Amino acid sequence: MNLTATVNGVSRTVEDVRPHESLLHVLRERLGLTGAKNACEQGECGSCTVRLDGDAVCACLVPAGQADGAVVVTVEGLAQGGRLCAAQDCFLKAGGVQCGFCTPGLLMSLDHLLERNPDPSEADIREGLAGNLCRCTGYQKIVEAAGMAAERLRGQ
Ligand code: FES
Ligand code: FES
Repeated sequence: MNLTATVNGVSRTVEDVRPHESLLHVLRERLGLTGAKNACEQGECGSCTVRLDGDAVCACLVPAGQADGAVVVTVEGLAQGGRLCAAQDCFLKAGGVQCGFCTPGLLMSLDHLLERNPDPSEADIREGLAGNLCRCTGYQKIVEAAGMAAERLRGQ
């Protein structure tokens, strides 16, 4: 099948999508959007998280065909006009990035969380990001970055 979706605000078409091809594979290998990472391919780590029609999903688990006609946002779509979004900037400032492998997925889950809950408690943040595993940071800096981002967005 051919797949057409709005990806980061642009209509993109991918031809000859195979029945079992994942959305993650299409994004990374067909569209060159390598921000969403491929770590476990089993829905366990969250490194492949993208927004699909507003939901935060593990792109490795989504058959690409499900994205036909949908709106997809990847980490590449967060920055606007060449400027990092608040969450990206706060992750850098708070030291929430080490190797960075988990970061795109965390940013997409945080984007989803803050859209639903602009004033999250620490527990809300930990719960909202619970599906995203990080091997490096111990999570404290990530939680601080998420809190900073929420505060900054509330002040805008
Ligand atoms: S690569 Fe998709 S959840 Fe780990
Ligand atoms: S910063 Fe390395 S996995 Fe999270």
